[in-house]
Amino acid sequence: MEAKRSPYLKHLYVCVNRRDPPEASCAPGGSEGVREKLKSYVKENGLKGKVRVSSSGCMDLCARGPNVMVYPDHLWYSNVALADVDRIIEEHLAPLVTESAK
Ligand code: FES
Repeated sequence: MEAKRSPYLKHLYVCVNRRDPPEASCAPGGSEGVREKLKSYVKENGLKGKVRVSSSGCMDLCARGPNVMVYPDHLWYSNVALADVDRIIEEHLAPLVTESAK
């Protein structure tokens, strides 16, 4: 086993688990679109290598999905709609763009 520090300032996990209805899961609620919007922001704002957006499996909050976790901020967003991504970006990612531009 090898251990080293993560190079990422932020790591966002987006649950994209999909189950057949009537079981609740995040993907049918639009989590894949949430993930793609976050990934596009990272790419378009030069944050690759600083921010990682990863697909995750179930976080055990299925009925409250889509769910997004943000580390190292220890925040867990639930019921995330595509329109909510702007707030996540504003609070967690946009400040990094400003720092990069300095
Ligand atoms: S399916 Fe996303 S939290 Fe369970």
